[in-house]
Amino acid sequence: MDAKKRIEELAAELLKHQYLYYVRARPEISDEEYDRMFDALLRLEKRFPQYAGANSPSRRIGSDLDNAFPEKAHTVPVLSLDKVYQAEELEQWLLKTAAAAGGGAGFTVEEKIDGASIVLYYDRGELQYALTRGNGLLGNDVSANVRTISQVPLRIAESSPLAVRGEIYIMRGDFERFNSQVAEKYANPRNLAAGSLRNLKSSLAARVPLNIFVYEGFFQNGSGRDHLEILQRLLELGFRVNPHLGYFSADEAKRLLALRLFPGISAEPLTGLKEYLLRRAATRAEIPYDIDGLVIKVVEMDFRRELGTTAHHPRWAMAYKFDSPQGRTVLLDVQVQVGRNGRVTPVALLKPVALSGSTVTRATLHNQDYIDMLELGIGDEVSISKRGDVIPAVDEVLEKSEQAPGIYKLPDRCPFCQMPLVKEGAHHFCKNDACPERRRRMLEYFCAKEQMDIETLGEKTIAFLFAKGWVQSIPDIYRFDYGLLAGEEGFKEKKITRIRAAVEASKSRPFAKVLAALGFEGVASAVATALIANGFDSVEKIVACAKKNDWEAFARMEGIGEVTARLLVEHFSSPVNLKLIARLREIGLQFQAAGGGPERMDDSFAGQVWVVSGTFANFSPRSLAVTEIEKRGGKVAESVSSRTNFLLSGSHPGSKLARAEKLRIPIVTEGEFLKLLAGK
Ligand code: IVH
Repeated sequence: MDAKKRIEELAAELLKHQYLYYVRARPEISDEEYDRMFDALLRLEKRFPQYAGANSPSRRIGSDLDNAFPEKAHTVPVLSLDKVYQAEELEQWLLKTAAAAGGGAGFTVEEKIDGASIVLYYDRGELQYALTRGNGLLGNDVSANVRTISQVPLRIAESSPLAVRGEIYIMRGDFERFNSQVAEKYANPRNLAAGSLRNLKSSLAARVPLNIFVYEGFFQNGSGRDHLEILQRLLELGFRVNPHLGYFSADEAKRLLALRLFPGISAEPLTGLKEYLLRRAATRAEIPYDIDGLVIKVVEMDFRRELGTTAHHPRWAMAYKFDSPQGRTVLLDVQVQVGRNGRVTPVALLKPVALSGSTVTRATLHNQDYIDMLELGIGDEVSISKRGDVIPAVDEVLEKSEQAPGIYKLPDRCPFCQMPLVKEGAHHFCKNDACPERRRRMLEYFCAKEQMDIETLGEKTIAFLFAKGWVQSIPDIYRFDYGLLAGEEGFKEKKITRIRAAVEASKSRPFAKVLAALGFEGVASAVATALIANGFDSVEKIVACAKKNDWEAFARMEGIGEVTARLLVEHFSSPVNLKLIARLREIGLQFQAAGGGPERMDDSFAGQVWVVSGTFANFSPRSLAVTEIEKRGGKVAESVSSRTNFLLSGSHPGSKLARAEKLRIPIVTEGEFLKLLAGK
């Protein structure tokens, strides 16, 4: 038989069995038989790729090639739902709407699935493409990812054009399992479902156990005079329609008809609706996926047309939402923040709203992927929440803005230095080390309470000193003459004295704090503490290890992985960083853990006070000489005084040598020092 025909046969057969297994949950063949057929198809398609159709069952596996999600226009109206939060309000809407229809209308009550909205477009019996809701007019083409969802029919027995709306969702249990296996946790099943639809690689999307329920069909063949018939037709075509359905009508004949189409549903008079809603709300936890409400819809299409729509919602449907959002407000603008390591964070600027005891005006938006996932644009009405004490987050778009239909896009360039932003993983980065914003943020971080805790140098003061050009780098904090602040607004003498004292006091912050305050990527407090606890209790030891490129020594520590270990090597062998460390050390910051100290070798220098000055061939950085003295019980002082016993002098010793000579303190050269160390 020719390959083309065999491929088509296998494809048709496999699609049928996928439907039986994934939609009907009633397989007719064994898994082994299915796998054999699937393998046969894959082999043939590999040999004859020209015959592998866009809707071959092999698309379920997805591809490793990067997806693109071009915008495409919806050809059916993609409206959202008006909503109420009280069962009484819904009952009133129902009675009003039923009365307008002369009392004879029927209503379905469906679950409002808390997932990601999708529109599937079919023509000539094939899935053509699948679009996200987007702004209602344009959506993103996420076809490749949608094709991996085995419950989505790729071919249907309907040749005229058909659009189907549905919701992609994930079971709570699957969500927990998936989330426990990934580093970047998703906040809820909805975010995982929406995020998976935008997975760059469809082979990865294929690994997320996504489900679909469809709830509206737009037929062009005249099929379906009412919603129940449409749902029935969708079922026949192989779509997954949610069987949890309620039907309400004053007309008993219609109720019986509904029961005949969907046996097992509850079909009641209108008076039963409120109780039904309350019961369903109370038992929502019993279903294994999240629903955020119920949707009540007019069944008769004629009547739907008569009622019409507003710009946003049909007048023939209403959502009954279970929980009123913690806060609802409007996205006024997006502020682009650039952190000290260059990471770009979009921050939502919100119309002020009261939320658990405070007024919220800002919320994090994480990154572009998160904005895309929410399909969020400026002007949209959003729901926000605060979990625990964390910064508020934007959870969901409640209503797209009428004015600005777009979805917000981060700028191409850093707003502070105009360098092009680079996307790495989910985040955008400014890669310019000289970016003024990054430098300012670095200073801010260094002085912050959690790091060096220089109380007087808060965000505002740092911004002022930075803008003036007075403090541009960390050493500047210690070198700047704060006396120059006299006369500047807000800097009275008392404040200047306080700043000086706070800066001075920060010199005694422990090594762990200093290490973290440097702000090297991946070296925050926990890693700094781990280093010290594992014997890397001085910067020399860390530098020595980094210089040997011995990342494995770092990686052996509990809590430090290969990525961090390699970063440590990079940071502590970078000439720029080593220079910074040397400067700060000269200034008097702690680069050695207190208490631990270097291991004691002997007492040959006991009771001696040394001062070390200049540069050395064998002790670079100079602190290596300091360590040798301390290992032998000696002390090392910063400056030469009458209490100094020896000056260890290298080349370019500077003023310390002159002072030592003046005080007649013995000068020890590097060569002599080496002999002393050797015990000669
Ligand atoms: S009907 C015009 N039915 O809720 C019809 N929507 O704003 C509008 N949703 O974007 C939608 N379950 O993603 C409908 N059974 C259901 C639904 C449902 C979930 C979502 C849908 C829509 C949003 C309402």
